[in-house]
Amino acid sequence: MSQIPEYWTQQVEAAKHAYTLAYAPYSQFHVGAAALTESGKVVNGCNVENASYGLTVCAERNCIANAVIQGEQNIKSIVVYTEQVKLTPPCGACRQVIAEFLSQEAEVMSTNHLGDYQLWSVAELLPDAFTPKSLLDI
Ligand code: THU
Repeated sequence: MSQIPEYWTQQVEAAKHAYTLAYAPYSQFHVGAAALTESGKVVNGCNVENASYGLTVCAERNCIANAVIQGEQNIKSIVVYTEQVKLTPPCGACRQVIAEFLSQEAEVMSTNHLGDYQLWSVAELLPDAFTPKSLLDI
């Protein structure tokens, strides 16, 4: 597999750092994510589980919430980092939240400790998404 293009480096490193902060005592499945915002900020997030399992929030959604809290509502790309041999794709709930804040053409990458990676466009992850535009189109 080819190397990750260099312009992703900062985002991958931020996702890797978030991975080390994950709170996943129930699944032991640690995930880090990092978003690149339109203004050039890199913002990260990790998964945060709960004893009431259904309240768990994934790394991608915490990362997006972190961007919004920092005044960044336009996100250009997201990286998901795990230490799984099989690359981790965003779950269905995260795909919906990703479609809210990233354009359909924006890229989402999953990568791991081996440097493997996969890229998807948001449209590939969630075709025909229900987005803010769906509410505005009468
Ligand atoms: N998880 C994420 O944080 N992101 C994903 O893309 C997949 C799943 C988390 C949720 C839960 O804490 C653990 O991974 C196992 O599902």
